[in-house]
Order: sequence, then C-alpha cells, then structure tokens
Amino acid sequence: MVRPLKVEIGFGSGDFLIEMARNEPECDFIGIEIYRPGIKKLLHKVETFGTRNIQIICGDAKEIIPSLPGKVSEFFINFPDPWPKRRHRKRRLIKPPVVDLIHKSLAPGGRVALATDIADYAGEMLCYFEAHGSFRNVAGRMNFFSRIEGRVPTKYEKKYLTQGIRIYYLLFEAV
Ligand SMILES: C[S@@+](CC[C@H](N)C(=O)[O-])C[C@H]1O[C@@H](n2cnc3c(N)ncnc32)[C@H](O)[C@@H]1O
Repeated sequence: MVRPLKVEIGFGSGDFLIEMARNEPECDFIGIEIYRPGIKKLLHKVETFGTRNIQIICGDAKEIIPSLPGKVSEFFINFPDPWPKRRHRKRRLIKPPVVDLIHKSLAPGGRVALATDIADYAGEMLCYFEAHGSFRNVAGRMNFFSRIEGRVPTKYEKKYLTQGIRIYYLLFEAV
C-alpha cells in the first residue's frame, strides 16, 4: 500500500510541518524551503521529536516540484512571500506555470491548500487556479474560506490571528 505523500512549500521555521507529520504518522511529508536557517530549525525539531516521516529539500520549489518522488496527495502553501511592491510582484511564487507544475505532480483527487493575509495575492491565486481548468474550488467558484476547522496554524498564522488580521484560505482539488 502506497503511503500518501504531502508536501509543504516554503515551510519557514517548520512548525506546521512538524505538527502535521506528528499528527499523521501514516503519511510521508516533504518540506521544500529555499532559506537555509529555516532548514536548520526544522532539522533540530525533527531530531528532538524523532520524527521519521519528514524529508527536507533545500531549494527553489519551482525546480523541485517536477522531480518529487511520487504523486502528491496534498500541497500546503502557507503565507508565500507577498512581494508587496508592485514592481516586485512578478517574483511571487504562485503564477500559472507553477499552478501547472503543481497539477502535474498531484495524485488524482489531490488537493492544494493555500493561505495568505494579502488580499490581492489571494485574489491572484484564486484566479490562476480557477483559470487552469483542472481544479475544483472546494470553497465554491471564486470563493475563499475565512477559517478552516481543526487546521494546524503556522508561525505567521498564529501572529496574524492574534492581531485580528483577516486570512484567506484557498482549497483546490484536482479533477
Ligand atoms: C512568509 S514565509 C512563511 C513561512 C511559513 N509558511 C509560515 O506560514 O509561517 C515564506 C517562506 O517561503 C519560502 N520561499 C519563498 N520562495 C520560495 C521558493 N521559491 N521555494 C521554496 N521556498 C520559498 C521563504 O524562504 C519563507 O520561508
């Protein structure tokens, strides 16, 4: 029996990933992160908890997604860098080519869960996934979730929730 594979892109300090992996020992997790100090922090947590179902890959998700070792049942993209200045927006990770890479690596019925506090990035991601044509928006066409029951919060998410900042949750399923 193949174990479900779940992937977090840009895990930061790794709080979400370690908790998910500990909650779901029947799944394998891969964390992709470009920022080395974050990797060091997660390695320390993996060692502390003796977690055996996390693999860490250091690098740019755009290059790593095509060579993941198997079909992915769920991608998590939590608070991707917003690049708020208009002239920097082209650096945002979620663009149509990356949406397509994600779709190609998903198992049938696989899911992509995204979260951001940036309204215009939320709208942009929503449009790209809807326009792809091979995803179903679980929240309903052109809709977000404003909360997800039982969700493990990330480091950024905890901070924003404490400050009362609105978070946009997106959930798409491969069709
Ligand atoms: C704003 S932080 C959010 C961290 C964490 N997901 C959280 O919610 O607490 C965004 C993270 O994505 C990582 N990142 C940005 N672009 C990336 C890329 N192309 N590939 C992998 N990681 C990336 C950054 O290094 C950073 O750790």
